[in-house]
Amino acid sequence: MVRHHGVIDHIPAIITREAVPGDFERYFDEAFDELSPASRHLRFFTAVRELPDTVRERLSQVDGVHNAAIVAFDAAVMLDDHPEGKPIGVARWMGSEDGPPELSITVIDAYQGMGVGTRLMDALLALARTRGVRRIIADILRENTGMRTLVNRYRAVVQRSGDPLVVRYRIDV
Ligand SMILES: CC(C)(COP(=O)(O)OP(=O)(O)OC[C@H]1O[C@@H](n2cnc3c(N)ncnc32)[C@H](O)[C@@H]1OP(=O)(O)O)[C@@H](O)C(=O)NCCC(=O)NCCS
Repeated sequence: MVRHHGVIDHIPAIITREAVPGDFERYFDEAFDELSPASRHLRFFTAVRELPDTVRERLSQVDGVHNAAIVAFDAAVMLDDHPEGKPIGVARWMGSEDGPPELSITVIDAYQGMGVGTRLMDALLALARTRGVRRIIADILRENTGMRTLVNRYRAVVQRSGDPLVVRYRIDV
């Protein structure tokens, strides 16, 4: 399903790679600016205009094992200081103290519904296999049909979430 927020007037060239420390400072704010209130709500469970420092701090840390991420770019967009193109999405797992790491994926609105989320998910699960991650948990708002459709393709199993608004999935990597 295509759900464009902005307009793309070119054929995108989607590339993905593992996130490295420094990507957050380089790319996060500009990508966050391109998320609609609806997308922010679906990702952060609240339509935040700015993320709290504690959340930013957590998102900025990637060590490739406890916290790892895949970033997506549109290499067809030429931007100053952006040799890889325009940052358009990220998928990550974040370590949890009392269970499997937690999954999240975000694609900026103009690029949603074009297969970027699927590319990110495939790349993240492939990375997880190489890093010895066996299971990932995804807490998804019940109303988020797009993300629920996406994880269902990966044989996700529904678990108790303890919150009627949230569906918890377990994905066996
Ligand atoms: C959810 C999200 C990551 C999906 O990424 P995407 O690039 O749009 O997904 P894809 O284009 O790969 O689509 C995968 C499938 O999901 C489904 N899907 C995607 N968006 C959808 C929507 N708005 N409504 C219903 N189904 C949708 C489709 O079935 C699609 O399959 P198709 O190719 O057969 O149409 C993205 O829409 C997003 O960032 N949303 C806002 C933030 C969010 O909800 N993050 C998840 C928090 S855990």
